[in-house]
Amino acid sequence: MKTITIVGLGYVGLPLACLCAEKGHKVYGLDTDKNKSDSINKSQSPIEDEYLIAKLKDLKNRISATLNPSECIPNSDVVVVCVPTPVDKNNSPNLTAVMESASAVSKFIKHGTLLVIESTIYPGTIEEIIVPILKKQKFDAYKNDVMVAHCPERIDPGNKKWTIENLPRVVGGITKEAAKKAAEFYREIINADVVELSSVKAAEATKIMENTFRDVNIAFINEMAKSFDKAGIDIIEVIKGASTKPFAFMPHYPGAGVGGHCIPVDPYYLIEKAKQIGFKHEFLKLAREINNSMPHYTVELLENELKKLKKSIKNAKVGVLGLAYKANVDDVRESPASEIINLLKTKGADVFVFDPHVKNGSNVKDADELLNKSDYLILATDHSEFKAMDLNLLKKHKILAVIDGRNCLDKEKIKSMGIAYHGIGRS
Ligand SMILES: NC(=O)c1ccc[n+]([C@@H]2O[C@H](COP(=O)([O-])OP(=O)(O)OC[C@H]3O[C@@H](n4cnc5c(N)ncnc54)[C@H](O)[C@@H]3O)[C@@H](O)[C@H]2O)c1
Repeated sequence: MKTITIVGLGYVGLPLACLCAEKGHKVYGLDTDKNKSDSINKSQSPIEDEYLIAKLKDLKNRISATLNPSECIPNSDVVVVCVPTPVDKNNSPNLTAVMESASAVSKFIKHGTLLVIESTIYPGTIEEIIVPILKKQKFDAYKNDVMVAHCPERIDPGNKKWTIENLPRVVGGITKEAAKKAAEFYREIINADVVELSSVKAAEATKIMENTFRDVNIAFINEMAKSFDKAGIDIIEVIKGASTKPFAFMPHYPGAGVGGHCIPVDPYYLIEKAKQIGFKHEFLKLAREINNSMPHYTVELLENELKKLKKSIKNAKVGVLGLAYKANVDDVRESPASEIINLLKTKGADVFVFDPHVKNGSNVKDADELLNKSDYLILATDHSEFKAMDLNLLKKHKILAVIDGRNCLDKEKIKSMGIAYHGIGRS
C-alpha cells in the first residue's frame, strides 16, 4: 500500500483519487476549495456524476481531503497534480494553479517521491517551471531527488465506455528512472497499456496534439456545415455517406460551439508556446476562430428564421435548452450556451434557460415551463433528456422555430408539425 496525494479534486483529480483508494492505497486529496474538501470528507461528490457519487459513497471516507499540504505531502510516496490550466482573457496560458500547487508541494515533499503532473501543459512546462520550483527547495529532479514525470489525463467525463481505468496512458519523465517509476504506478492502478515516451516534453506534446486534433477536425466540419447550409445539403447525411469509406475518414460533427476545459483551451497553449520559440500556428488559430464563431452562427440561424416569419429578435421569446458544454454533464466551463444566451440578450431577446444538470443557471423550473414561455427554441446541449423530449410538446406550446444546435432532434417530425427547423448544416 502506498500513500498518495492527489492535488486538485476536480473532474480529473477526484476520479483518480477514487481509483487509487479502490486499489487499496491510502489517499489524500489536497485542494484549495474548502466546500469541495468538506463535501468529499462527507463522502458526497461535489460533481454531479453518477460514477463519482456512487464511488464516494462506497469508499466511505477513504479519501481524506485537506487544504493543508503539511498534513499529506510529507507522508506521500506519490503526488499527482491535477489542477486547472485555463487561459487568460488574451488566450495566453495561465499556469498560476500549477505553479502555486507545485510550490506548496515542494516545501513538504520528501526525497525520492514520485511527482506526476497530469494537468494539460505546453511542451517544456515541466522543465521550465516545475523543475526550477523544486530546485528552490534544493531538489535536483535530474538527479532523481524528486522523481518528476508527466502523465496527461485523457478522461472524458460522462463517457461510459472509456473510463479512467481502461484508457491507455503515456508517460514521460525528467529521467528514465522517473518515467519507469511513473509507468509502474499507473500499470498498478489501471487496466490498460501504459506507454513510456523518451522525454517529458514528448508526453506534454502528446496531450496537446490529441486535443488540437479534435479542435481542428471539428472546425473543418463546422466550416463544411456552414457551406452546406448555403447549398441546402444535409451534413449529417453526408457524414453518414463518407463514414462508409473504411479508411482515412473519421466522422466529426458540427455544432453550436466547442466548450469545456480542454478542446477550446489547449490549442492556445501550443499556439502561444510555439510563438515564443518562433513558429506561427496559422492552421490552429483558424480552427479556433471557426469554432469560436459557432455560437454567433447559431444565433444568426435563428435571426434568419425570424426574418422569414417577419419577426424581430428584439423582444423575441427564446428558450435555450442546455447550459453545460456537452451532453449529460454539469460542467459549464467555456460552454457555447453562455455565449448564445449573452448574444440573444444583447440583441434584446427575452431568454429562458433550462438545464436539468445545471439547475442554478436555469431561470425556469423545467422544459415544460420553458416551452410554455417561449416562441422560439435553441437547443444548445444534447442532454439525453432533450433528445427524449416528446416533440408534440413543441406544437402544444406553439413553438414557431427550432434551431437545433446539436443536430439531435427529429427534423422531419418537427417540420411535419409546421414548425421551422434549422440545424447546424442541416435544414
Ligand atoms: N475536465 C476534463 O475533461 C479534462 C480531461 C483531461 C485533462 N484535463 C486537464 O486536467 C486538469 C484539471 O482539470 P479539471 O477539469 O479536473 O479541473 P477542475 O477545475 O475540475 O479541478 C481542479 C481542482 O483543482 C483545485 N485547485 C486549484 N488551484 C489549486 C491549488 N493551487 N492547489 C490545490 N488545488 C487547486 C480546484 O479547486 C479544483 O478542485 C487541467 O489541466 C485540464 O486541462 C481535464
